[in-house]
Amino acid sequence: MIRVLFVCLGNICRSPTAHAVFQQMVDGQGLGSSILVDSAGTGDWHIGRPPDPRASAAAQQRGVDMSALRARQFQPADFHNFDYILAMDEDNLRDILAQAPDSHSAQVGLFLDYASLFEEREVPDPYYGGDEGFEHVLNLIEDAARGLLEELGGSRA
Ligand code: 4NP
Repeated sequence: MIRVLFVCLGNICRSPTAHAVFQQMVDGQGLGSSILVDSAGTGDWHIGRPPDPRASAAAQQRGVDMSALRARQFQPADFHNFDYILAMDEDNLRDILAQAPDSHSAQVGLFLDYASLFEEREVPDPYYGGDEGFEHVLNLIEDAARGLLEELGGSRA
């Protein structure tokens, strides 16, 4: 089992979108029993809440259902519970690494390192912006999710 955790700040916009998009690709290729997908936020404000309705609506338009997801906070145990910990932006990455135990084997990095169509390295926070921000987030995430799936042994979805 390969375990993948997506991390952003609130776990209500970017990382749950990555979670749902990547899960759908994994399931679509019949890899659901070999790749485990989860998401978390470095902050604690939205613990237990469903995704931001703007994120859910944008994903739904592309046929991706986020309704079952609930926010949780990133925790140091995640370094042991996951093989890949993929941050949406540099701030998230720094906050994750600040909690790293002395010894762990997780690969920690930026999710967009798996993107190929876009040059950007960070998924911009769409929380305080307009709906177009959520479309851009989805475009970036779909690109990186395809690259990640290929890295993990699937074909490009
Ligand atoms: P996310 O977006 O990190 O993509 O889930 C945010 C959600 C909430 C807040 C910030 C970013 N907030 O400040 O409450």
